[in-house]
Amino acid sequence: MTADVFKTSLRSHQAGALSASNAGERVKLAGWVHRSRNLGGLVFVDLRDRAGIVQISFDPKWASADVIAAAASVGQETVVSIEGTVEPRPNEMRNPEMLTGDIEVHATSLAVLGAADTPVIPVARGKGEKLAAEDLRLRHRHLDLRRPELQQNILLRHKLQQTTRRFLDQHGYLEIETPILTKPTPEGARDYLVPSRVHEGEFYALPQSPQLYKQLLMVAGFDRYFQIARCFRDEDLRADRQPEFTQIDIEASFITPEDIMVLTEGLLLELFRDVGISIPPAFPRMEYKDAMERFGCDRPDLRYALEIVDVTDAFRSADFGITRTAIDDGGRVRGIRIPGGAAMSRKQVDEVEQIAKSAGAFGLLRLKKTDGVLEGPVAKFVDAASGAKLALDDGDLLLMVASRDEVSNPALDRVRQDVAKRLNLIPEGTTELVWITDFPLFGVDNESGQLAAVHHPFTAPHPDDIEKIDSDPRAVRALAYDVVMNGTELGGGSIRIHDASMQQRILGKLGIEAEDARNRFGFLLEALSAGAPPHGGIALGFDRIAMLLSGAASLRDVIAFPKTTAARALFEGAPTPVNEQDLHALHLDFRRSD
Ligand code: AMO
Repeated sequence: MTADVFKTSLRSHQAGALSASNAGERVKLAGWVHRSRNLGGLVFVDLRDRAGIVQISFDPKWASADVIAAAASVGQETVVSIEGTVEPRPNEMRNPEMLTGDIEVHATSLAVLGAADTPVIPVARGKGEKLAAEDLRLRHRHLDLRRPELQQNILLRHKLQQTTRRFLDQHGYLEIETPILTKPTPEGARDYLVPSRVHEGEFYALPQSPQLYKQLLMVAGFDRYFQIARCFRDEDLRADRQPEFTQIDIEASFITPEDIMVLTEGLLLELFRDVGISIPPAFPRMEYKDAMERFGCDRPDLRYALEIVDVTDAFRSADFGITRTAIDDGGRVRGIRIPGGAAMSRKQVDEVEQIAKSAGAFGLLRLKKTDGVLEGPVAKFVDAASGAKLALDDGDLLLMVASRDEVSNPALDRVRQDVAKRLNLIPEGTTELVWITDFPLFGVDNESGQLAAVHHPFTAPHPDDIEKIDSDPRAVRALAYDVVMNGTELGGGSIRIHDASMQQRILGKLGIEAEDARNRFGFLLEALSAGAPPHGGIALGFDRIAMLLSGAASLRDVIAFPKTTAARALFEGAPTPVNEQDLHALHLDFRRSD
């Protein structure tokens, strides 16, 4: 793309793209007044457009008194057009912090194209000036989006989308749109429902993902599909979740997990290259059970060590109620060895313990080693022989949870993350990507006790585990894989069931009986009986990728019009009550819950 494409009848150049190479040129610019300074008859205006900021100077040497007066009175964020000549700045006036810092524009005219009220939130911030509160910024999103940081993020998002399209097109993937008004697709969240006016009492669901459509496209013979797809999930929100978000959604036929992993690695390599980060061409792989054993979670942050160690043996014969009960109950004593942690204050360790408690642990057992001696309330329970098995060095602190893995895993995961932050163990600027594979096919729903799909119900069981589906379902592995970066799940996918009877069998195990299965997924079962190719795919969280690559702290900083953590759109004001008539037309009767 050349600079010429920005030329219009109202401007000759982008203001922020001017450089010393334009020196001497007569230009016509249009943009926003970022800042202005009146030095008594000499006025400087920082003019901003999408490309950046350039300094415009209004000086009696080249501008008339009227033009200078107009420049002096123009307020921040007014849209103006100016004409002038690009001039090199005298050496002592150069500003290396500005891309256009070698030049300025000597303006001879100024016209107001769009008046502006005093901005409610500042676009131009002084050094060290804090951002306005986020709610206020979301309420006035048109102003907030003018901030150069957000402009950069949105520009990067665009670039990443173009790279995605180009890469997948080059690999034979077809971009195909799928419906937004659809039938529920189970991805583990609640659906957003849309009432039908024409069909009383019936509802569409907004898609949690295009999962079933992409599978149908494989049955239809399109071989390779992708979509930069909008998904909708009504779930509890966090910094890395939005109710409405975007996936790079991919599906292909006649493939294995290996093929999808290689494709994904290639795509991520290109996306990271867009921001100048080089990543290895292939990522390490870790089985789910190892991730849980070593890190207590299935999306481990591998930028730092702090691995979980099993120290059950050191307590096996100890006369200590807490460890005794845990071991008798089928649990273990596992902990995190913190090198140098013996120097942590009691208050700090108490705070870490609170984190473990809030994740469900009864508390943390503490053991430290100083001058070759074990110290701490549980030291007396560790006999000398088994003490050696703890492998503690001088200065180490060991924080342990004695219980079943379901309890200790989430607690130790939180402890690990907290300690890494607290002790500054996370190296800046590093990227650690890892594939997590061999997930279990089934988990258990906490409320109902019923088997539940760990990924979604269309994920294929590992061929070696098929005979365990009835005898030991929890031991069945899935042909599923997640890609994780620095502790964030970037994406996940699987090989799908492409056999109708197996699909029916798995739905049955999930408690979805034959008739229910026909009602909800009849169209899929029918398609799978019509000659379905083996197929599989993946979906990458596009907003998460944009957030991590831009260095933004929240998804909201890479989405033009995001929702708050309470799922509200503050700018336009959604959701909003609707009037009785509209409800009536939709056959809805609104009752306020108490
Ligand atoms: P999954 O549910 O794992 O898989 O979603 C894929 C990726 O989408 C991102 N993601 C989100 N991003 C922002 N806000 C959310 N609320 C949110 N929820 C998920 C994550 C996640 O890894 N159909 C399957 C994919 C497949 O099997 O091909 C699916 O949607 O980065």
